[in-house]
Amino acid sequence: MDVRPLTGAMGAEILGVRLSGALSNADFDAIHQAFLDYGAIFFRDQTLRREDQIAFARRFGDLEEHPIVEGMAEHSEIIKVVKPKGEAAEFGVGWHTDNSFFQKPSKATCLYGEVIPPYGGDTVYANQYLAYETLSDGMKAMLEGLEAIHSAERAYTEPQTRDKYEGRRAMRYRWSEAVLREVVHPVLRLHPETKRKALYVNPTFTVRFKDMTEEESRPLLHYLYQHCARPDFCCRFVWRKGSLALWDNRCAQHYAVDDYRDYERVMFRVTVKGDAPRGKI
Ligand code: SIN
Repeated sequence: MDVRPLTGAMGAEILGVRLSGALSNADFDAIHQAFLDYGAIFFRDQTLRREDQIAFARRFGDLEEHPIVEGMAEHSEIIKVVKPKGEAAEFGVGWHTDNSFFQKPSKATCLYGEVIPPYGGDTVYANQYLAYETLSDGMKAMLEGLEAIHSAERAYTEPQTRDKYEGRRAMRYRWSEAVLREVVHPVLRLHPETKRKALYVNPTFTVRFKDMTEEESRPLLHYLYQHCARPDFCCRFVWRKGSLALWDNRCAQHYAVDDYRDYERVMFRVTVKGDAPRGKI
């Protein structure tokens, strides 16, 4: 197995592994270590059935069903991420960590590409350990102990709400109180496995600081959002048919780029259950 870093900030391609067969414990351990070391890992030229993707993702933990986006009829833990030809991309467009509006946000996301545009539709990732580590000591001290409110409301009520919930779009959404629920997470998150600290706010799901208004929170959140996504912290993955990405939502944000209006893109996405973010062990 060969692990090749994508940039100096994060991300690595792993060569020489076939994910459709049974993975030995030694191979799994090496993949798991690369996942922790690089924040996002990528495999090429895989031919995976839905069951193979599920089996691979399950090596990282229990899988979950999304409370708002409908899973596949035959595999409710898989979301088919479809962007039809001629439409703008919507799903995952904007910086975020997956499901930070859960009490226990997803630990990892595993995305497999089956229909890939000839160009465009890349996914960009940003290392949130670096985002934390490059803050000044004064800013780190100010953020320590601060908490923020996260909610799905903004992302899942705009802009095409009715069509999505009424089944008139390629992806179907389910309305429930999960759309409006607010949860509280630390702004600085200690990664439970690496024990490194990461910045944990994102412009898609973070609403405000706890005990502050949105207006009061906006200037500092705005600063943190643009800091989080500095090109120095990023890598960009160019998809091909048969590529598989696995990323760690506890220390990375990502952004699905909306630049392939004329083409279709079809991906299969599963998420691994995580734990409640903690600022301290
Ligand atoms: C996501 O945000 O989970 C989807 C990313 C993508 O489609 O590239």
